[in-house]
Amino acid sequence: MRKHIVAGNWKMNKTFEEADDLINDIMDKLEGLTLDRNTELVICPPFPYLEMASEYGDESYFAVGAQDVSEQDSGAYTGEVSAAMLESLELTYCIVGHSERRAYHHETDEIVARKVDQLLKYNLRPIVCCGEVLQEREEGRQFDVVKKQITDGLFHLSAEQFANIVIAYEPVWAIGTGKTATPEQAQEIHAFIRGLIAEKYGKEVADETSILYGGSCKPSNAKELFANPDVDGGLIGGASLKADDFIAIATAF
Ligand code: PGA
Repeated sequence: MRKHIVAGNWKMNKTFEEADDLINDIMDKLEGLTLDRNTELVICPPFPYLEMASEYGDESYFAVGAQDVSEQDSGAYTGEVSAAMLESLELTYCIVGHSERRAYHHETDEIVARKVDQLLKYNLRPIVCCGEVLQEREEGRQFDVVKKQITDGLFHLSAEQFANIVIAYEPVWAIGTGKTATPEQAQEIHAFIRGLIAEKYGKEVADETSILYGGSCKPSNAKELFANPDVDGGLIGGASLKADDFIAIATAF
């Protein structure tokens, strides 16, 4: 049975002290709570807090991921963080190809593919984001856009490598806007993505791939989104910055 994953993408928020407080708050709330055994909680704080989060994660019930990684292995790339560095912090996950990186840092599908390769080389699980912008949806091109992102970013992998991939479908028009895709819209695209994976790697691999929904997911809509057969959890931005909301979403299955 494929995993349910609820991952908090903190983006560029919180000072060190605030990050420490938020993690402790999450840990307090997790104590005595029985999460569905098939649900994994992931926290993706900014780079400077990864070591702290990773140490706390060892004592608690969550995994830790980074928000980005360099496509290069090592060397003269000022400001970059390599997959080897993330592995040395014993992280589990790393987000790749988030729409904010695609929009503000010109991250193409080819760059996403190279970042995925780096992460797999160092035993990290990529959470690969895809999703259309509003105009593409209005023109009915969401399926083509997502197909291209998945094909060019991931379909160079072998089936064995692909087994480590988590996908996050995040319609860009729903990110940080308060506008959520309807459960039907989410299910439609998630089923389409699973179909693409089945075509390329077979039904077994497709059935085991966790496909998360992201975009204004919050306690009030998580249950109806997660109730869909092809929605295996969420990539949570704004609502992951409050322990109560994040835990409420994690228990919405
Ligand atoms: P949001 O962000 O939940 O604030 O819409 C989701 C994301 O960008 O990962």
